[in-house]
Amino acid sequence: MPLNARNGFGAWKSRTTFVLALSSSAVGLGNLWRFSYLTGEYGGAPFVISYLLCLFLIAVPLLIAEVVIGTHGRGSPTIAIRWATDRSLLSRNWMVLGLLASFTGLLILSYYAVVAGWGLAYAGFMASGVFSSASALTVGAHFDQFLASPRVLIYWQSLFLLMVVATAVMGVRRGLGLMAWVAVPALMVLLGVLVVFAVENGDVQAAQAFLFSVKLMDFSAKSMLVALGHAFFTLGVGVGVAITFGAYAPQRIPIGRSVIAVALFDTLISLAVGLAIFPIIFANNTEPSMGPGLLFVSVPYAFGNILQGELFGTLFFVLVVVAALGSAVALMEPCVRLLMQHWRMPRLFAVLLVAGVVWLLGLGTVLSFNVWHRELWFGNWNFFALLDAITADFLLPLVSLLTAIFVGWRMRVEILRVELYREAGLFFSLWRFLLRFIVPAAIVLIFVAGVLGN
Ligand code: PHE
Repeated sequence: MPLNARNGFGAWKSRTTFVLALSSSAVGLGNLWRFSYLTGEYGGAPFVISYLLCLFLIAVPLLIAEVVIGTHGRGSPTIAIRWATDRSLLSRNWMVLGLLASFTGLLILSYYAVVAGWGLAYAGFMASGVFSSASALTVGAHFDQFLASPRVLIYWQSLFLLMVVATAVMGVRRGLGLMAWVAVPALMVLLGVLVVFAVENGDVQAAQAFLFSVKLMDFSAKSMLVALGHAFFTLGVGVGVAITFGAYAPQRIPIGRSVIAVALFDTLISLAVGLAIFPIIFANNTEPSMGPGLLFVSVPYAFGNILQGELFGTLFFVLVVVAALGSAVALMEPCVRLLMQHWRMPRLFAVLLVAGVVWLLGLGTVLSFNVWHRELWFGNWNFFALLDAITADFLLPLVSLLTAIFVGWRMRVEILRVELYREAGLFFSLWRFLLRFIVPAAIVLIFVAGVLGN
């Protein structure tokens, strides 16, 4: 019998902690940084609509599937999948899925930590008042200058990773549990303040038109693939996090409803971020489509030129860091659990090892914003762009497709029904239908169309 939550390995006692932990994994840079710059880059509403559809029709059923693997198998992604294969008399080769998922999380975390480091730096910059009454040009130049120094970026990346390590070492039960109880409510309060601020000071009408008014011809296959990838990214699907969290979940939780609550909450945060950022961007004639720098150029500029902006700008970046911390700890957890279960590594070693690998890999991202800026690896992608595309637009859909096949087509249906026994029969049938037919078909279709339409 493997060492896992079945034989008393620290499970969460309360359902609320489980839901909060899933929320703190879901809400992060995906909502604050990635969603806003992708929405800006892919022209607003069409992207938002594709993303919402992908989220609720594809990502949500998958997240439920992952939690089911976790509550059934009660272990790291590989161990939980092995449990599931043994109960359903399937080949143990499916364990590769757990490995692939955990590895994808590691890749994501490598650039995630770099960008979170920017957030940390910018909280400091905002507080120091360097952006007071600065022109858009000055703020842009400041960002370019900031990115130009690998040493500075490595410093902030390392600092952020230290925070992650400190939280992760405490373990899922204390570290993540505590994080969830503090981070999620803090985030909501801060974001509420920011939205009110944006509504009072920004151009809400322009932002609303940009975010919500669609013309059919604006949809493109490429933007749909990016939206699909982002739906996975923002909900934290495809990296084994939900399997790991499911393993810690208390018995008898209504998995379906919990996941839907998390998805609604995550969406609410993303849209609120949109409503906090875009009115200010439009009111200040800033370009919404400037790419990954959007958050770090528009926001400081906008806040720097508005009464009390310094305070709110600082709060905003503190929020970015707090949110990123919860997600980063989650992203690390599948690998940590893998090392702990397969090699019996103490948590501290596992955490340090994973953080070390993530730090090293992250150097590639750091350098692609300066020294390797023009070094193209493939097509017109530098290291960071390539890593982002490979993870979000390829690996997440791939892991998700395999998960849908594994849970939807291979695992015994009685097992699934038992894990989801708190949900109504109709809900169960609908979920299984989506997972078996809609999810795989949509992923393949969107992926192929997106790649061809490139
Ligand atoms: N969902 C997180 C975010 O939006 C990122 C993440 C991805 C976390 C995958 C866990 C797993 O920032």
